[in-house]
Order: sequence, then structure tokens, then C-alpha cells
Amino acid sequence: MLRRILLGVSRSPQIKKAVSAMPVSSGIVARFVAGETAPEAVLATEKLVSSGLNVTLDHLGEDVTDAAAATATAEAYLTLLKQLSAAGLTANAEVSVKLSAVGQALPGDGEKIALENARSICHAARNAGTTVTLDMEDHTTTDSTLSILRELRQDFPETGAVLQAYLRRTEGDCRDLAYEGSRVRLCKGAYKEPESVAYQDKRSVDKAYVRAMKILMNGAGYPMIASHDPRLIAIAGSLADRANRRPGSFEYQMLFGIRPEEQLRLAGEGHTVRIYIPYGEDWYGYLVRRLAERPANLQFFARSLISK
Ligand code: FDA
Repeated sequence: MLRRILLGVSRSPQIKKAVSAMPVSSGIVARFVAGETAPEAVLATEKLVSSGLNVTLDHLGEDVTDAAAATATAEAYLTLLKQLSAAGLTANAEVSVKLSAVGQALPGDGEKIALENARSICHAARNAGTTVTLDMEDHTTTDSTLSILRELRQDFPETGAVLQAYLRRTEGDCRDLAYEGSRVRLCKGAYKEPESVAYQDKRSVDKAYVRAMKILMNGAGYPMIASHDPRLIAIAGSLADRANRRPGSFEYQMLFGIRPEEQLRLAGEGHTVRIYIPYGEDWYGYLVRRLAERPANLQFFARSLISK
């Protein structure tokens, strides 16, 4: 309930303005966001990679409102990929892209603009020796995102997809995407969605997550288990064993700043563990989703605002 209220209230422009005025270095923002610039993101990547973890980097921003901003996002990824390559990090670091940040929602030919921008990022990633994963946003974008994914995979079959367990349609999408070479990140889902399309309570979402995991683990693709939930992480391990999957034939993923000891524990067991590092100036939407996931974060957030 709190999560839904917070995600609703966060749309207020006044609240966005007040929160966005906080410096990125302030406690709560710095916990979840690696910085505002590419060099800061590369530094955070170096630290995680040197401790045995892998990384996927997200240049923050979503819902751009003009084609120039969409191009600017794509260029930010090209700059980032150059810097990751120069630092020798691309064997362990890929990028995650939100299609709404590269033009998907623009009126008219938004999808085409997003596809072309995503294609140029995929090209640069391949030249740098790494991959791209397309983040998944709210349910109104799912069909469009999966259709752009299909187009991109014709030239870049290594492009990763994200599916959200809370959506009622996801089991079907898992079946469609559980083919050889298909990288699929499974997460619970972070947006405020109507009952008609998404399970609302934690128990139903968790059950749906397990059903989706079963399909992916028993399929021929490469499952990427994106969750901090200890129960689901344990179930993922058992399902992988039962499907005769060795470490390296699937991976765990977690967000920067969340359960860092667990990230290292799984890597210490020989698993591939990838940390999602967000960076950039437009961190508001991302921060709100992280706050909404956990009431305890709100107290921390309130203290950060008061001490501003
Ligand atoms: P759950 O929310 O039940 O949390 C389980 C436990 O993890 C909590 O009890 C707590 O200990 C810890 N935890 C979780 N969130 C926390 C937080 N914010 N602060 C502190 N502790 C926290 N979503 C989406 O819609 N589209 C996407 O593309 C992605 N991409 C993505 C990539 C990766 C690598 C991850 C890990 C997650 C995403 N997500 C996402 C977000 C995802 O949908 C979901 O909202 C969060 O991962 C939280 O769900 P959990 O599975 O962690 O479970």
C-alpha cells in the first residue's frame, strides 16, 4: 500500500523539484546512485570488479520529451562504453538501457528513434567487447520493448531482455524467450501497475516469480535472477541444480547498494553476480522506486532531507 502511495505522490512536480535539489552525494542518494558522471561510474565499476563482481551500468534518465535528449542519452552511453573499454573493464561490465530514455515515448516515430539509438549503443557495446540489456518499464511499454528487442536481436542476438514477474503475461513471455543464447533478466517489477495486468500482493508476485524462474531455468537461454529476496535466491539455486545448470550458465543480479554482503557471498561460491549501477543527473525516478520498495528507506530519506 505504502509503495503504491509513494509511487503515486512522486509524480507531483513540486515534490520532484524539492527532492532533485538534494546533492547526489547526500546519504540516501549516494547509497543507491554511483555519481553523476561517467568517470564516477567507471570508478564504482572498478571497485566492484576488483572484488569479483560484474556490473551493468544504467545512465539514469527516462521519458525524454524530444529527439535531441534521446540522442544525448545514446551519446552518453557511447562515451561510457569508450571509458569502460579504455579502463579494460568490458569483460565484466555491460550496459542497461531504458528505451524511454532513447525516445520510445516520443509522438510519431518514437519507436523508430528508440530502435536506432539502441542499435547505435549495441554497435558500440559490441565494438567494446560487451553487451546491452534493455530494461523494462511500465506495462504500457512491454509490447513495444519486446518488439524492439526482437529487431535488435536480428543483428545483436546477445542483447538482454528484462521480464517482470508481477505482470500476468510474464509466464508466456518467459516461454517465448527461453531459447538458446537468449539472456533474460527476471525481476519482480518496480512500477505502479493496475490489478488488471499485475499481481498486487507480495505473495502472488513471489509465486509468479518462482513459476517464471522454473521456465527460464528449464529452458535453453541464460537466466539472470535479479532479486535481493533471500527465499527466491535460495529457490533459484535449487532450480538451477535440478536443471543441471552449473555456475556460469545463469547469473544473479542485484542493485548497487543493496545487500552488498550477499553479493560477495554468492560470488565467493563461484557464481556470476552482476551489480546494476545507476549513474547520472536524472536520478529522481530511480530513487523513488528504491524508496518505495522498503519503508525503512523512507526514514533514512527523511533524515537526509532534514539535514539538507
Ligand atoms: P523485495 O522487494 O521483496 O526485497 C527483498 C529484500 O531485499 C528486502 O527484504 C530487503 O532486504 C532487500 N531490498 C529490496 N529492495 C530494497 C531497497 N530498495 N532498499 C533496501 N533493501 C532492499 N524493475 C523493473 O521494473 N524493470 C527493470 O528493468 C528492473 N531492473 C532491475 C535490475 C536488477 C539487477 C535488479 C536487482 C532489479 C531490477 N528491477 C527492475 C527492480 C525489481 O523489479 C524490484 O523492484 C527490486 O529488485 C526489489 O525486489 P526484490 O526482488 O529485491 O524483492
